[in-house]
Amino acid sequence: MVKRKKPEALLQGWVELSSLPFIYIKINNAINDRHSSIKDISDIISGDPSLTTRLLRLVNSAFYGFPSKIDTVSRAILAVGTNQLRDLALATSVLSLFKGIPAGLVSMESLWRHSVACGLAAKILSTASRREANVERFFTAGIIHDIGRLVIYKMMPDAAHEMILRCRVNNESLYLVEKEVIGFDHADLGRALAQLWNLPASLEEMIACHHSPSEARLYPVEACVVHIADYIAHEMQLGESGEQYIPPLDKKVWKLVGIPETALSFITDPLRAEFEDVVQSLWEL
Ligand SMILES: [Fe+2]
Ligand SMILES: [Fe+2]
Repeated sequence: MVKRKKPEALLQGWVELSSLPFIYIKINNAINDRHSSIKDISDIISGDPSLTTRLLRLVNSAFYGFPSKIDTVSRAILAVGTNQLRDLALATSVLSLFKGIPAGLVSMESLWRHSVACGLAAKILSTASRREANVERFFTAGIIHDIGRLVIYKMMPDAAHEMILRCRVNNESLYLVEKEVIGFDHADLGRALAQLWNLPASLEEMIACHHSPSEARLYPVEACVVHIADYIAHEMQLGESGEQYIPPLDKKVWKLVGIPETALSFITDPLRAEFEDVVQSLWEL
C-alpha cells in the first residue's frame, strides 16, 4: 500500500528542485528592467560557467544549425534573443536534474532522451504551425513535460517500481495507474512544480495538460502542441517515459494547431536530423 502525499509535499522533499529556476528568475528580472543591457544579462549567464557551457553547446548544435560558431554569451543573445536564451537556460538546467538518479525499471537517460525528443518536436511543430517568435519556450515545455515522472522515480522509487510492473502485467497505461495509486498523476505534479517555480501560465498549462489538452483553459493551442510532440516522441521511440503503450492522441488537436495530420513528416524528418546532435551536445555535461 502506497502512502499518499500531496504533490507539494513530494516536491518539497527534493531540495535541489526549489532553487533550480534561480538563474531563470534573475534573467527574467533583468529582461523586465528597462535599465538592463545585453551585457547585464550576459554577465548573469556568464557567472554560471556550467550554464554557459550548456547554452553555448546547445546554440551551436543542430538545434539552430547556425553556419558559424557562436563562442560568447553576448553573441548567443544577439543570435537567439533574450527571452529565448532565458527559456533555454531553464530547459538546460532542468536537464541537469536527471543526472545521478539511480535507474529503476526505466533508465533516467532514456527519460531524458524522451524529454529532449518531445522538446524538439514541440519546437519544430510550433515553427511549422504558427508565426511564433519564441519557439524556444515550446522546447522548454517539452523538456519539462514529464518532470513529474522524474519526481516520482526519485522520491517514490518503490511505488514507481510497483506501478510499472502492474502496468506490464495488466496491460495498463502508467499515467492512468498513477492517479489511482498515488492520488495524482505526473502531469498534476508538473503543474504543482510550475506553480512552485512561478513559471508563466502558458508553460504551466503545456506541462499540466500534455495528456489532456482539451482541459487547457488559457493556452489550448500550446497544450495541443506538446500533446502531439509527446505522441511523436513515443511513436518514434526516441527515449522512454515509462509508458509501454503510446499515450492516445486526441484527434481534435490537429485542427486546433492548424496543420494537417498528413504533415507529420514535416516534423519527424527534422526531428530525426536534429535529435542525436542535440542529445550529444547536452548529455555528457
Ligand atoms: Fe506524460
Ligand atoms: Fe512524455
